[in-house]
Amino acid sequence: MRVLTVFGTRPEAVKLAPVAAALAAAPGITSILCATGQHRAMLDQVMAIFGLVPRHDLAVMRHDQGLSDVTAAVIAGVAAVIAKERPHWVIVQGDTTTTLAAALAAFHAGVPVAHVEAGLRTGDVGAPFPEEMQRRLVTRLATLHFPPTAAAAANLRAEGVAEAAMRVTGNTVIDALHALRARLDSDPALARALDARFAPLATGRRLVLATAHRREGLRGGLRRTCAALRLAAGRGDVEIVLPVHPNPAVRATVRDMLAGVPHVHLLEPLDPLAFLHLLRRAHLVVTDSGGVVEEAAALGRPVLITRETTERREAVAAGGARLVGTATGAILAAIETLLEDGAAWAAMVRAPNPFGDGRAAARIVARLRAGAAAPAVADLSLATRPARRRRTAGAPARAVRATSRQGA
Ligand code: UD1
Ligand code: UDP
Repeated sequence: MRVLTVFGTRPEAVKLAPVAAALAAAPGITSILCATGQHRAMLDQVMAIFGLVPRHDLAVMRHDQGLSDVTAAVIAGVAAVIAKERPHWVIVQGDTTTTLAAALAAFHAGVPVAHVEAGLRTGDVGAPFPEEMQRRLVTRLATLHFPPTAAAAANLRAEGVAEAAMRVTGNTVIDALHALRARLDSDPALARALDARFAPLATGRRLVLATAHRREGLRGGLRRTCAALRLAAGRGDVEIVLPVHPNPAVRATVRDMLAGVPHVHLLEPLDPLAFLHLLRRAHLVVTDSGGVVEEAAALGRPVLITRETTERREAVAAGGARLVGTATGAILAAIETLLEDGAAWAAMVRAPNPFGDGRAAARIVARLRAGAAAPAVADLSLATRPARRRRTAGAPARAVRATSRQGA
């Protein structure tokens, strides 16, 4: 069975690295990796740490290009890879433009799509934008769905996805986290090097780790979040570390609000090992990132979600995360509570991890192998040729089965 795994951004690479490893180890599977290069520097950092070596790299990133440009480039690029590799399955993860475009290219080619981290929903197509719409569309395109939690599975069920087409797996980010943690814990030289690298942060002040990148945040939320971080830094009892996402609009706002502010450290994006090192040292985390919420919750680091809505409600329900919105006063108040109220902080630290046991990738690969009766590759992809002429004896008339009752 030939399985093509497509990823393009930092979080997809982190979350598909365990799946790629499990596929590579599975008998009877030929694993082919395709990086779209939607991200460049940040993707390369992750691929290097996890040893991901893509057979195809579409290198679609252009500085500050529009969503439609990325979408078009990924569809065309992945279509060509599918035509060359003839996979039986295409695996995509999450809700990025790479995810949607790769799923659509697979659908066009008649190749079934397996969707990792399926079923996350806020219910608001404006937030996150464009991810909420992209993941809904991928659900319509996919044949197999891997929701990380029971709540995500319930969302899929409510949209008509058939029970037999889904499997709750836990989130593969926990698998990745376990692998990274094992490396940090088994390599004292690495741990020492990271300690030395971040020695300027060892001031005795508590560490606040922050990230921000969401597009809808550019409407004002990011500026208000930065204002809260600036006020928190002004207390003089914290060190705030913010690895700045390379999106030029994000950079401009963050620099404008926080450059040169005492006790604020603006860094380039960190590789996942360095980021985990800081996450473990953090007293609290302030973020609009989905993956960082999951990791912080798994590590027992209190996390404040600087968004108006979240699809990671499990973390809030479990008690490890708080959805604080994007008003400066509310964010600052939440940070101050966690700095001053030891009981509130400890309660968040103790909250259980709702995102899985670190065996998600094994479940995904087992389900794929069990479904080896999966549809064969169809030739409907060759759009200029009538499908009937391309069909050979024994080949299925229609390879992709829609699994939702509403139809794909
Ligand atoms: C993308 C995803 C988002 C995901 C996020 C993770 C979409 C629409 N958005 O958002 O779902 O949560 O990644 O980080 O798919 N850039 C670089 N170097 C890089 C990466 C980005 O310079 O390594 C710059 C480029 O100018 C690029 C811009 O950042 O045009 C935005 O990147 P893009 O992938 O379009 O969106 P993100 O905001 O990163
Ligand atoms: N991350 C990283 N370096 C950083 C910031 C984040 O390696 O400087 C990792 C983090 O550990 C998590 C992932 O990037 O695994 C989250 O990606 P991001 O916040 O870009 O996207 P999202 O999860 O919001 O889609």
